[in-house]
Amino acid sequence: LQVTALRRTFCSNMDSKIALDAAKKLAARAAVDQWVTEETKVVGIGSGSTIVFVVDRIAERVWKEGALSDMICVPSSYQARKLILDHNLTLGDLDRNCRIDVYIDGADEVDSGMVLIKGGGGCLMQEKIVASCAKSVIIIADYTKKSLRLGEQWCKGIPIEVAPMAYVPIKHKIEELFGGEAQLRIALKKAGPIVTDNGNFLLDWRFVAKREYNWYEVNLAISMIPGVLETGLFVDMATKCYFGMADGTVKVQS
Ligand code: 5RP
Repeated sequence: LQVTALRRTFCSNMDSKIALDAAKKLAARAAVDQWVTEETKVVGIGSGSTIVFVVDRIAERVWKEGALSDMICVPSSYQARKLILDHNLTLGDLDRNCRIDVYIDGADEVDSGMVLIKGGGGCLMQEKIVASCAKSVIIIADYTKKSLRLGEQWCKGIPIEVAPMAYVPIKHKIEELFGGEAQLRIALKKAGPIVTDNGNFLLDWRFVAKREYNWYEVNLAISMIPGVLETGLFVDMATKCYFGMADGTVKVQS
């Protein structure tokens, strides 16, 4: 009986993963086809599981359709860099390509005003830097990421990248200023803190979901705490968001 129950859970988890992957792929394809054209010379590549479908589609356009031959891809993480190289696309960097035509990335949650929570994969700092160099920032996600207000969906909190020596004072300052709880992100099996691509720690701040926050002010105040390197709050950055929906359509938010 236990084995049957386990198998059922496994199958339904697999079904929902397949459905979410289909939704991510839909959003990725729609965004690439709309935003990555022959005029696009430099594209910024975000991080996470959804971005994999973006790079797949770009590579399909380059290698199967013979398009986008001169396009350079600027990564936002070690993962993105590897994706670009694995797909044989042209790798760029901000030293040589600091004017990016379009940056495409996923998100952990998007509210009705297109404020984003990012950094579930721990790459928020480089993501925000690369995004800030782009004329257009296009977000792609499956339907579970779309909210009216942040905190509506189950979410691990807002990731904040911090200097390792300062994580305890920063945690206390955030909790005193805005409530909730800021937790150090720990690696699986409690092997110690997760270390970002930049050698820093991450705090996941579980804010008070029912409280009314002004995210612009919150982002500013947290960014001012010494030792905070970047927050996963992306305010006024997204140009458009593409959501792959459960019914096979794509919803565009702007
Ligand atoms: C990584 C990110 C990701 O874009 C975000 O976590 C969404 O990831 P996924 O596409 O796997 O749902 O910000 O730092």
